[in-house]
Amino acid sequence: MPRRGLSLRIDTAMNNNPKNMSDSGTWNFNNDRRLHVGRSGIRQSSLATSSSFVPHETKIKREDLETIGTLGQGSSGQVEKVVHLPTNTVLALKTVAIAENEDVQKNLFKELLALTRVRCPQVVSFYDAFSNEAHIDMVLEYMDAGSLASPLFHHVPENLLRLMAVSLFRGLSHMHTSHYIHRDIKPANILVNTKGEVKLTDFGVAAELDHTLAQANSWVGTMVYMSPERINGGSYSFAADIWALGLTVMEVAMGRFPLAPTMEDAGSFLDVMDIIVSQEIPRLPDEFSPEFQHFISLCLKKDVAERPMAPTLLEHPWLEGLANVSHEEVSAQIKAGMGL
Ligand SMILES: Nc1ncnc2c1ncn2[C@@H]1O[C@H](COP(=O)(O)OP(=O)(O)O)[C@@H](O)[C@H]1O
Ligand SMILES: [Mg+2]
Repeated sequence: MPRRGLSLRIDTAMNNNPKNMSDSGTWNFNNDRRLHVGRSGIRQSSLATSSSFVPHETKIKREDLETIGTLGQGSSGQVEKVVHLPTNTVLALKTVAIAENEDVQKNLFKELLALTRVRCPQVVSFYDAFSNEAHIDMVLEYMDAGSLASPLFHHVPENLLRLMAVSLFRGLSHMHTSHYIHRDIKPANILVNTKGEVKLTDFGVAAELDHTLAQANSWVGTMVYMSPERINGGSYSFAADIWALGLTVMEVAMGRFPLAPTMEDAGSFLDVMDIIVSQEIPRLPDEFSPEFQHFISLCLKKDVAERPMAPTLLEHPWLEGLANVSHEEVSAQIKAGMGL
């Protein structure tokens, strides 16, 4: 006899997002549990995280990715939370609009795919990419504690910020050694997970998307992290990433963008450009240690020749004692300190 009138009432776990109910009849909860309603009844399962997934050995197919939520809207596109159905693993899928020129698209796609070979624990893994007519979908490691732009990371205490800085400058050092320049380091491009790992994301994306329609929209938002030599139109190199990362660490320490009290109007934007190019760069306030103040002042040297590279900064007295601490230990301390 056919079963009729199955009614399922779920109130609290849902966030009114129609995407919670997938086409395959699966409910997805915020806490990463799934409820499958099928002929054989109701079955519950938990989602794995990227750590238990061997992505570089898994061929990801676009049709195996099911959207279960939205993670963010960025300047270059949107980021969705997806499940890789064959392995039940949560991943992030970032979609960016690209120029319509076919040659540009092909090159861009090839360059982006090269980034899937990067293996660095301080850089968000980039597993695969799919291209269609006007956009590219990038499959990324899912970072479940958000970005450093979130209020959770305003005023991170200095002892924890040192550990985050070690992770980030190690990541930058690795990528610079492999000849990758980021070009768009800012708090929103640094992601954290509940293991306490802090990672750079969108590596290479800005460089590759430089000439596309998408990038034009993000120009202004990104410019406040630009180094003086870049604003002045000079050659752009690794040192510009050091500037942007130093400014980002300073922002997380102070809980606000360090070069302007607010960034709400065009006037303050022009003031910021003026500070970067012609004024004295503000120092970290005295509530922070002299070593930390000195570290930031080196990152923010206007003269490129005086701005140290990542390996030198990793030996700075502010990071003393952390040189031989493993990535796992650094992450464990951040996890405990931040209560992640
Ligand atoms: N791999 C990821 N895991 C979890 N959240 C992510 C991931 N990538 C991006 N996000 C979220 O989506 C937001 C927008 O990302 P993105 O499109 O890269 O924006 P932006 O152009 O500002 O860098 C990020 O600030 C972050 O909150
Ligand atoms: Mg980003």
